[in-house]
Amino acid sequence: MTDLNISLQHARKYEREAAGRIEAEERPAFHFTPPAGWMNDPNGFSYYQGKFHLFFQYFPYSSHWDKMHWGHAVSEDLIHWTYLPAVMAPDRAYDKDGCYSGSALELQDGRQLLLYTGVRIDHDENGVQSEHQEQCIAVGDGMDYQKYPLNPVISGDMLPPDSSRVHFRDPKMWEENGHIYCLAANARASDGSGRLLMFRSEDGFNWTFDRILIENDNLYGKMWECPDYFRLDGKEVIIVSPQDMLPEGLEFHNGNGTLCLIGRTDETGKFVPDSLHSIDYGIDFYAPQTIMTPDGRRVMIGWMQNWDACAMRGPEEPWAGQMSLPREIHVQDGRLFQRPLRELEHLRKNRIAYDHVVVSDEVTLGGLSGRMAEIEITLTPADKKYLYRRFDLFVAQDDVYRTAISFFPQECVLEIDRKFSGSRRAIMHRRKCQTGSRKDGVIRLRVILDRYSIEVFINDGEKTMTATIYTDLSADGISFYADGTAYMDIVKYDLEAERIISFGR
Ligand code: FRU
Repeated sequence: MTDLNISLQHARKYEREAAGRIEAEERPAFHFTPPAGWMNDPNGFSYYQGKFHLFFQYFPYSSHWDKMHWGHAVSEDLIHWTYLPAVMAPDRAYDKDGCYSGSALELQDGRQLLLYTGVRIDHDENGVQSEHQEQCIAVGDGMDYQKYPLNPVISGDMLPPDSSRVHFRDPKMWEENGHIYCLAANARASDGSGRLLMFRSEDGFNWTFDRILIENDNLYGKMWECPDYFRLDGKEVIIVSPQDMLPEGLEFHNGNGTLCLIGRTDETGKFVPDSLHSIDYGIDFYAPQTIMTPDGRRVMIGWMQNWDACAMRGPEEPWAGQMSLPREIHVQDGRLFQRPLRELEHLRKNRIAYDHVVVSDEVTLGGLSGRMAEIEITLTPADKKYLYRRFDLFVAQDDVYRTAISFFPQECVLEIDRKFSGSRRAIMHRRKCQTGSRKDGVIRLRVILDRYSIEVFINDGEKTMTATIYTDLSADGISFYADGTAYMDIVKYDLEAERIISFGR
């Protein structure tokens, strides 16, 4: 055994002990968190040997981003997860500065292939730094993975002209017509504009450059990270996470965003979008990946965090980073619709329903509280001519705290505000989302709360707003307010899940 392999053994020992020191109640109940330390992007999201596998960007030793490892967990229903030992540490010359994001695929011989970005930072005699990102593989059995001796398999030398070697990462594989393809994120060397490169392989080990699938031309942010490509409901879909976005009305916001492009590949092999839009309009959603489940559902999971707002979680906490709920996705009317994975419904307990509640001023309802809950609301105006001016749903509420979801029917705007949700940092706490154009005061909301997050599915999943909240758990009130009068139908469930925090081995 070389010294380098010791890094992974060390990480495995450390994470097991550190995870054992975290009580189940200190984590969300059914959102995935790392065993210990830091987590960002989902990686290698896959179905392999009868189980769902989720790997993730991981630094087990502390709650901030550092040299990336790959953590690992498995699940039978995408809701209950069992941690497995970490699978990769940055322990080779070509990935010594990080094993960045990537994907997984089952090989013909039944082994699982991981394709990831190896990061190497060199310094010249003047201390000037140069970074290299290249694509590497590891092969394994669902538990242990061996890095390939001939890594990197997609080197910087294979890049087309005008390619940055620093920004070349996050390969996502799929199989089509007997070939393996991967889509990797890259930036143009000349102006930093993002583009997606396609590579092709027959066996997963030998790769050739295929083509540039799409160029951003610095229109939607700059570098595009973490691409995914799939066919869904008769369309081709690309999802990608742009850096350095500028806002466009309420469609895109500043900083790291998400983008869904729906369209087709033309005769020249270029992807031509018919429509494009944000994937999530809240604060914390980034770098999503999708899989196809054995029963034919396309399911997406994202990192439920935002790079610019990581300070939301204090550095002293034993874990940092949550995954979003797995979401079933569809293309409908040129948009990506998202709904919570239907297995979530198995967690429902204690149904409470009220029909036609008159909300004007403040309203609380018997039995309505909780931080692990599902709330479904349909709002209609009391008077179609004179619409109510605003409606608020307050959750995670007590005398000090509250997280607000506010609807302004005259502008068709939904707002999420976590200013009073336990944050002690000067980061963004509020986001707005355009909900449609019909100013009729009707809206349907499905809200999922899980201790430290809120996910809002608007109008049957046409849009979503996601945010983390780190409010004290004792703040568990739920209440309503309207300026004017709205009628509300509401159904609420407690969501109960046993969090499995033991290691599989
Ligand atoms: C996206 C990202 C990826 C990269 C990884 C590093 O959040 O920046 O592009 O592979 O995180 O942890």
